[in-house]
Amino acid sequence: MNPLQERYSEEIAQVLSKYPADQKRSAVMPLLYIAQREHGYVSREQFAQIAEILEISATDVAEILGFYTLYHDKPEGKYRLQVCNDLPCALRGADQFLEGVCDHLGVKPGGTTQDGLVTVEAVMCLAACHRAPMFQVQSSEGIAYHEDQTVESAARLVDSWRATEVE
Ligand code: FES
Repeated sequence: MNPLQERYSEEIAQVLSKYPADQKRSAVMPLLYIAQREHGYVSREQFAQIAEILEISATDVAEILGFYTLYHDKPEGKYRLQVCNDLPCALRGADQFLEGVCDHLGVKPGGTTQDGLVTVEAVMCLAACHRAPMFQVQSSEGIAYHEDQTVESAARLVDSWRATEVE
């Protein structure tokens, strides 16, 4: 039994019980969720551990993780501010918005603020195209949508996170 399985044996058994024994690979998403919950990302070791449990390759696990904006393979900011700049949002100014937010925070897309608090990422359609500029925030509190944004409103939100940090 590998470390991930040992720590979450009951939960993983419960997940696996939902799938036929020859379809275990279908459980990759819930297992990624369990692994990521610990530190906000899935480590290389955990790729291998999930792969071992599901009897697939670690590359298969990594490919699936790489496809989804909700999974991460390295530690980043405590808050992930994910701006959609896919075409419909770009037509409503998402690129300029992303640039403005990045300038304000002193990062490039994909970068993390110096205090380690915020990572800004450009992502594909988040299904709120008509409310652009928009972004979703991933944090330990879950996922939140922020629609019809301006650089100023995004900056205020980041300020509120910083204020919470110093309390
Ligand atoms: S294109 Fe941005 S939310 Fe759909």
